[in-house]
Amino acid sequence: MLNKIKALQEEMDAATASTPEEVDELRIKYISKKGSINQLFADFKHVPAEQKKEVGKAINELKEFALTKINSLKEAFESGAAGTTGLDLTRPGEPVKLGTRHPLSIVKNEIINIFGRLGFTVAEGPEIEDDWHVFSALNFPPEHPARDMQDTFFIEKDPDVLLRTHTSSVQIRVMERTQPPIRAIFPGRVFRNEAISARSHCIFHQVEGLYVDENVSFADLKQTLVYFAKELFGEDSQIRLRPSYFPFTEPSAEMDVSCSICGGEGCNVCKYTGWLEILGCGMVDPNVLEACNIDSKKYTGFAFGMGIERITMLKYGIKDIRHFFENDVRFLKQFESAT
Ligand code: PHE
Repeated sequence: MLNKIKALQEEMDAATASTPEEVDELRIKYISKKGSINQLFADFKHVPAEQKKEVGKAINELKEFALTKINSLKEAFESGAAGTTGLDLTRPGEPVKLGTRHPLSIVKNEIINIFGRLGFTVAEGPEIEDDWHVFSALNFPPEHPARDMQDTFFIEKDPDVLLRTHTSSVQIRVMERTQPPIRAIFPGRVFRNEAISARSHCIFHQVEGLYVDENVSFADLKQTLVYFAKELFGEDSQIRLRPSYFPFTEPSAEMDVSCSICGGEGCNVCKYTGWLEILGCGMVDPNVLEACNIDSKKYTGFAFGMGIERITMLKYGIKDIRHFFENDVRFLKQFESAT
């Protein structure tokens, strides 16, 4: 009798079911009124008195085992964990993890929005350029050091095919095909043959601005930049313009914004000056307008150019420019809420 119980238990242990109907067959076979276990109970009366205790216990344990086994098979089908009949089309889907916007894209879009409110449209130009659009039309003298091999990536041996070193080339492309009024910004990627470090990279992004019309003055440039700084860095931001030099603007200036990290008090980000340099700007040189067949007697304009990496680093307190290009999700995930 004990052997029979043991054999039944092993048989049940190995039993499987591939449909709910098969589970029911197992239930009938083992635990229904006419099932094997009830049969054991019927045979129990023939067990000698001294074995009754042991055998009774074994049958009860077998019954318990059978109930658990059949219930767990049943549950597997009901929860959909087994077979296809458990398919429940009303169950919610598995959540798909969305990516996050890259911090450079977040800041670029913010810049586009700010200038959009001032009526600036967006245009783009090619990354692979020629000498005319990157240098000559922008009034770079033939021997200017920025044309030197150490700044510019040339493509193969042809000195007239190069990667643009700034987005100012798009000024030329736009002015060549459009007569004023022109009011647009040009976001894009630029390339410079520079050693990669925490502060500089051979690939980075700029946003260029250009406004050409009758009577555009330096005062217009300044007011545009004041508005931009307050929108991007906060209402309390101050700007200051320092005289500078670019071949394509005259006069030229560099703009500093009051340090948004210490509020101008002085900290290690602004090197205790209270100011952060963020862009170059100036009045479009008449030679540049003429190179694009725009009448420099009738029209004037201003232009500016800023680095998106630098502004993003200042805005979010990022200490190393290389983070932007490594695509480490632990870095990128931090900008989830800003998206
Ligand atoms: N192209 C300049 C640079 O890359 C920035 C600039 C743009 C300056 C437009 C003046 C006007 O540094």
